[in-house]
Amino acid sequence: MDRTDQIILEQIEDKTVSGEKLSKLTGISRVAVWKRIKKLEDLGYRIKHSSEGYRLIERTPYLLPVEIKRALKTGYIGKNYIFFDQIDSTNMYAKSNDLPDGTVVLAENQTKGKGRKGRRWISSKGKGLYFSIVIKRNYPLNDLMKLSLLFPYAVKEAIKDYLENQIKIKWPNDLYINNRKFAGFLIETEIEGNEINRIIAGIGININNEPEEFGDIKDTATSLKIEEGKTFCRKELFCRVLETIEKSLDKFSSLDLTDEIEKDLLWKGENIRILDEGIEGRLIGLDRSGGLKVLTEKGVLTVYSGDISVR
Ligand code: BTN
Repeated sequence: MDRTDQIILEQIEDKTVSGEKLSKLTGISRVAVWKRIKKLEDLGYRIKHSSEGYRLIERTPYLLPVEIKRALKTGYIGKNYIFFDQIDSTNMYAKSNDLPDGTVVLAENQTKGKGRKGRRWISSKGKGLYFSIVIKRNYPLNDLMKLSLLFPYAVKEAIKDYLENQIKIKWPNDLYINNRKFAGFLIETEIEGNEINRIIAGIGININNEPEEFGDIKDTATSLKIEEGKTFCRKELFCRVLETIEKSLDKFSSLDLTDEIEKDLLWKGENIRILDEGIEGRLIGLDRSGGLKVLTEKGVLTVYSGDISVR
């Protein structure tokens, strides 16, 4: 979308404006104005055509840069915003390009959305939020676990007030409602010596997805719409999420993340199993670095990786 499209949009936002006036204001012919109106409609804007001219009825549901720029109130996260209608994976794109700190790459649809441990992430067009954030800062390697907990924590904080249901955090970094997963995080890092110097935080949040989109995982996957019974404004949630991630990153060193997460930890106090590790026991909480404390027959063990399930 160029400056001329933006002028047309601004003009017709709150009034009907004739093709002739738009042509004069933009310096293009009336036919060219009409073509641009058609292009805006293809981008999802709803525009009323009448004998008096054109008027915007509804903005596009797609998360186009022009839409995000006017709604986002952050200092650096998303200031460089890269939008794709379709891509293989936003994480793959962010990893293979040298993008500045705070860059957000979002796709309306991913054909090879990546999950943890080689799993896939179903990314139906226009239904969820599928994006990656590039953080190019140095953190001590010891902070890795806590950093990967920061993203689910911030997403939970950003959206919890929009929901009736309670959000739970499944260690290490999934978000659940009613025992089903609606958001996943793929945190990929670049490490040099004892320092993390780049983080690609890939975030998938199922917002308005329908049960049939989840196919064979529909018993374990869910969306905000399925759980809350209503449709959400993705743009609003996306902006709140980016703003909360920025605030949480800014206070990372003083944030008592493990305490905060423990309050909403899924299966706390219950008997769990750590798959692949053969560990079973009662989930008692997190240690200071974000590891999972499990009371087993051999005493308290702290685990730093793995997938958990209830026994
Ligand atoms: C998981 O739960 O296994 C992690 C899922 C992460 C999915 C997101 S969607 C945006 C970003 N791009 C990807 O290919 N994956 C992440």
